[in-house]
Amino acid sequence: MPTLRQIFLRHIAQTSPSPLAFEIERAEGMYLYDTSGKRYMDLIAGIGVSALGHRHERVMQAIERQLKRYLHTTVYGEFVLEPQVAFAERLSQHLPPSLSTVYYCNSGAEAVDGAMKLAKRATGRPHVIACRHAYHGSTQATTALMEPTTYSQGYFPLLPGVRHIDFNREESLEQIDENTACVIIEPVQAEAGVRLPAEGEASEDNFLQKVRQRCDETGALLVFDEVQTGFGRCGSLFALQRFGVVPDILALAKGFGGGLPLGAFIASPELMKCLSNNPILGHLTTFGGHPLSCAAGLATLEVLTESKLIEQAEAKALRFRKQLSGLPRLREIRHAGLLMALEFDSPDYMQALTQHCLKNGLITDWFLFDERSLRIAPPLIITEAQIDEACAIIQDFAPGGSTS
Ligand SMILES: Cc1ncc(COP(=O)(O)O)c(C=O)c1O
Repeated sequence: MPTLRQIFLRHIAQTSPSPLAFEIERAEGMYLYDTSGKRYMDLIAGIGVSALGHRHERVMQAIERQLKRYLHTTVYGEFVLEPQVAFAERLSQHLPPSLSTVYYCNSGAEAVDGAMKLAKRATGRPHVIACRHAYHGSTQATTALMEPTTYSQGYFPLLPGVRHIDFNREESLEQIDENTACVIIEPVQAEAGVRLPAEGEASEDNFLQKVRQRCDETGALLVFDEVQTGFGRCGSLFALQRFGVVPDILALAKGFGGGLPLGAFIASPELMKCLSNNPILGHLTTFGGHPLSCAAGLATLEVLTESKLIEQAEAKALRFRKQLSGLPRLREIRHAGLLMALEFDSPDYMQALTQHCLKNGLITDWFLFDERSLRIAPPLIITEAQIDEACAIIQDFAPGGSTS
């Protein structure tokens, strides 16, 4: 009889030669349990998804309630589905007034793809500008946004008309011009290893504000990809609030679905209107805004906004920093709320540390465009005691310490 792991290796497509093949039995709160009963603390929240941890009670109740009502009924945008409407209305109460119309989709890549289409349609312009070392998804269009081309070169030709700028390099903003439909940017570059926008001389003069200004000068639209930074991850509900910049289009996913697949691009009603005429049906989806996902997302939003979890994110990050700042071979710690990168002096050392963590029941990870940095982005529900427990395991990897 083949084991489950052997069947997995044979029948599930792999994207790396040595998958972790970690057999999950169940997940609860901060922890995952494997089939042998071993407990692992989840320090990456399913890569930025489980803001409230696994199977949060309020989210489970909302899913169960919706489960008893209906699942899929028809494609997006034709029927009035209460979970979609209630979630969109609640979102608009927490966003700037211009971001009040939601187009739901299923994932982050779809959200960015939809935002690009909307920008091209609204402006009639051909070019899209993205930042180097950004990850926006794995569809053909979002793959085209990637630079360097390490992960995209096998798929050429990709979407034409994409230009790249460097995050935090003001001179590169000259590339934004009258041919630019939109600039797509993460307020904090996640997969680049948690890179924050540079502050200018005045407090209201950060890099994102300069991008906003250049977009206004040229008529290009500004798209924020908050797939990873949104839903409390960076210490405010959305990172746009933290940096004081309002984009024309906001892309969301990951934590937005409360653990179920959901994405969205959000804009003003005036902008969105161009998807519904001349010709009609400007963007379509069958499953986008699935009622179960919207019910889970709304419950997550309610817990985040009614609790102190977001407010506490910064103090929790500082608790990590305080305990980890003396680690050997550490070059730098960067963080925005509970999105943290610990940069070491070598990728091999960092990989060995992630292996040590896994052996000792701690799930960490690295970043797509920063192989020296360890990712720490736990559910926001992490307690002080759990932070101390995680730090003790990481500290135990110091030379001379146990790596068993
Ligand atoms: C900033 C950002 N945008 C978009 C995506 C793509 O999201 P998805 O995997 O849901 O397509 C990701 C995924 O990691 C991301 O981090």
